[in-house]
Amino acid sequence: MNLTTDVKRVAVVGTGVIGASWAAHFLAHGLDVNATDPSPGAEDRLRAAVAQHWPTLARFGLAEGASVDRLRFHDSLEDAVAVADFVQENGPERMDFKIDLFRRMDAAAPPETILASSSSGLAISGVQSGCAHPQRVVLGHPFNPPHLIPLVEVIGGEQTSPDTIARTMAFYAAIGKRPIHVKREVKGHIANRLQAALWREAFHLVNEGVASVADIDTAIAHGPGLRWAVMGPFMNLHLSGGAGGIEHLLAHLGGPIEDWWKDLGAPSMTDALKQQVVQGVDDALGTRHTADLQAARDTLLLNLIRAKAETGTLD
Ligand SMILES: NC(=O)c1ccc[n+]([C@@H]2O[C@H](COP(=O)([O-])OP(=O)(O)OC[C@H]3O[C@@H](n4cnc5c(N)ncnc54)[C@H](O)[C@@H]3O)[C@@H](O)[C@H]2O)c1
Repeated sequence: MNLTTDVKRVAVVGTGVIGASWAAHFLAHGLDVNATDPSPGAEDRLRAAVAQHWPTLARFGLAEGASVDRLRFHDSLEDAVAVADFVQENGPERMDFKIDLFRRMDAAAPPETILASSSSGLAISGVQSGCAHPQRVVLGHPFNPPHLIPLVEVIGGEQTSPDTIARTMAFYAAIGKRPIHVKREVKGHIANRLQAALWREAFHLVNEGVASVADIDTAIAHGPGLRWAVMGPFMNLHLSGGAGGIEHLLAHLGGPIEDWWKDLGAPSMTDALKQQVVQGVDDALGTRHTADLQAARDTLLLNLIRAKAETGTLD
């Protein structure tokens, strides 16, 4: 996607796991980044994280003029946001904290600057409640790590303007993200709800002794998970319908699918179930090291994302 954006300078507020990854992504797309985080040693950790992410970003291709030298660290939150065109907030996940942080950012940033929060679970209507310009406050929820995973969920609160949603969607798209607009505030947004639905049934099947932890992982990773990484659940259903597509599929299998829904479980996260799953993962790991698995996963993920981007049809 080759879109343009008026945003030239982004403020990254909070530079932990998510903030550092966002900072690297913005820099790789040729933007200036003003970062801030009050934690002792935060600047050194941020620069080290950006340096670590940079080779991966270089493999995707850096924008013209992209440079780690365009990263500036500010001790003051107000200084960091004062000249920013877009703010990406990644502070601690607490409502009282974010309300106060957004109130301060709102007072310091130019009124047309968008203030976006990465929050995984807080309602943006609450986060914007202490702001004098709540219409420019929006949720831009990334997936870890934001410099690699394209999805960003964009959600407005009760006071967010449609213009803010449109500008936020355009900005993320222009810097290589795949934004979706979540039209109503719901707990967990979209993608985490979908994951939660799958986890619920996976835990239920273990609890009921239907399958082992390892077999459930195999069922997804070597089965439908392969297709889901290529295209979503609805387009996969369409392809399963053959020449008749999704209309034929739903006429034919819609009833049975509804029957399965009625039989799905709703387990409780008991200590016994947690222990069973921990033991199951331990058994499946065997002598392999978690760090090696993680490295293998990241290499495959990177190749997959690049391959998808190159196909055009599936991008
Ligand atoms: N970790 C994930 O997988 C993930 C995924 C998507 C979204 N998120 C969201 O991103 C946000 C950050 O999560 P994280 O995992 O990076 O947490 P983290 O603990 O790694 O980072 C939070 C950072 O905020 C800093 N901070 C504290 N007070 C601050 C202040 N007054 N101003 C600026 N920075 C301040 C801390 O020093 C820390 O570096 C949360 O809202 C979380 O819900 C996390």
